[in-house]
Amino acid sequence: MTSWLRDAIFYQVYPQSFFDSNGDGIGDFRGLEQKLSYLQDLGVNAIWMNPCFDSSFFDAGYDVRDYYSVAPRYGTNEDLRQLCESVHERGMHLLLDLVPGHTAIDHPWFLESCKDEQNTSTDRYIWRVGGPRCQYYQGIAGFLSGISERPGMVAFNCFSTQPALNYGFGKVTESWQFSWDSPEAEQMRLKIQEIMSFWLDLGCDGFRVDMAGSLVKEDEGRIHTIQLWKKVRSFLEESYPQAVLVSEWGIPAQALEAGFHMDFLLHTGPSHYMDLFRENPYFSRSGRKDLSEFAAYYQEAYAQTNGKGLICIPSGNHDMIRLRETLTPEESKLAFTFLLTMPGCPFLYYGDEIGMRYVHGLKSKEGGYERTGSRTPMQWTGGINAGFSSASPQSLYLPVDPEDDRPTVEAQQADPDSLFRHVQNLISFRKQHTALCGDAGFIFLSDGKGGPLVYTRRSSEEVLLIAINPSDAPAAFTVPSEALPAQILLSYHDTMLSEGQLKLSSGGFAILSLPETYMS
Ligand code: NOJ
Repeated sequence: MTSWLRDAIFYQVYPQSFFDSNGDGIGDFRGLEQKLSYLQDLGVNAIWMNPCFDSSFFDAGYDVRDYYSVAPRYGTNEDLRQLCESVHERGMHLLLDLVPGHTAIDHPWFLESCKDEQNTSTDRYIWRVGGPRCQYYQGIAGFLSGISERPGMVAFNCFSTQPALNYGFGKVTESWQFSWDSPEAEQMRLKIQEIMSFWLDLGCDGFRVDMAGSLVKEDEGRIHTIQLWKKVRSFLEESYPQAVLVSEWGIPAQALEAGFHMDFLLHTGPSHYMDLFRENPYFSRSGRKDLSEFAAYYQEAYAQTNGKGLICIPSGNHDMIRLRETLTPEESKLAFTFLLTMPGCPFLYYGDEIGMRYVHGLKSKEGGYERTGSRTPMQWTGGINAGFSSASPQSLYLPVDPEDDRPTVEAQQADPDSLFRHVQNLISFRKQHTALCGDAGFIFLSDGKGGPLVYTRRSSEEVLLIAINPSDAPAAFTVPSEALPAQILLSYHDTMLSEGQLKLSSGGFAILSLPETYMS
């Protein structure tokens, strides 16, 4: 595994909303560069930045119009190179967001592809002649027609403004379908590798890959998509061995087999991620009383992937309603304790570390729809526009949270009990303990049924036990006799360890050091 990943703690930046350095109302590269010291002070050491490429912005940049140029609103390619350099000077890393599955509807490739006469882009997209428009094919969201001089309709992946690039079909059943091993599909993969090379040469450290698991259509078990990414990984191993890939796939066993270094647990898919922080969430005092379904899925996914790569749990992202909508700042403290003591790389969505709220009632911006309220400007200070921008409030990319008591970095840095300080302390604790590294060992001892949530982490140097009690009543856990003597290293609220009985008050947690001989 690429060595820096072991200790990586990621921070996701939605560049539009992070910091505006030139007063035009929208965040930019220089703004992010100016805030690197903030990120370093928080303790994170890696960044995933949402797409920053030239785009028609029908989906906040997930509709790329030019794979080789950044969107002018963020700066220039040279500014991005400079940002990468500053990130590296601080010992940090930066992943860009690669969108290989589809382009913008006004990408020059697509405009060419719409033409009646044959050209180099004719087969770059999935065109189909005949048949009903609503016919379902796995991996295709729908078909768009009436927009081209060539006959037929074109497949799209998400919004109808995102025509699907042609990586072929796993099982070919119609004359218009290309096979996964056709020269056209192969060309597409090579193109994506060329684009990756371009940005890796400029200085980024790798990519978060959008919809990575759905490139080949009608691909039972994702077998051919897995083969495709394996080839991409071999290419990277040869030419850019330090480069890192994290997938939006949501099935770690498949994604890691495909060659991704890490895969996310997603709000969609089989992982029960939503049980943690959002749907009747375990970390809310009034939420579900155990994490059994999540724990069962996680433990199995962990066993399947251990040693092959990392499973990443995000606090949120630009597609989800913010954590703060379902958890109070106190409850969020326990959620972050969990996030920062689990294996894999934790991903913090910007603003979650201060408990930024989901802003209700906003008009959809750039295809955000219900996601828009999670994409509002970062709240830095108590000043105008919460310190995000010097533009007039009407010309901001999105309005700032209008509440008088909106949390800010400034206020939370001044408060030793704030969520920010809690997250910062936990990050610092994680960094001091090899047992909390991304690839250090992990076992669930209790999924929370009838007591706290309990798990162990292990390195060659130490064994830790983490116990968290988000419930509204005190909880106790009997530390196995082989794990004694144990010692409390860090705790929150009233915690007692006496004769192997660990007692936690409501909303409390404890991290114990166990003898190295435990379960060795
Ligand atoms: C997943 C991205 O996270 C989301 O924001 C986007 O709308 C879709 N993929 C389409 O690219």
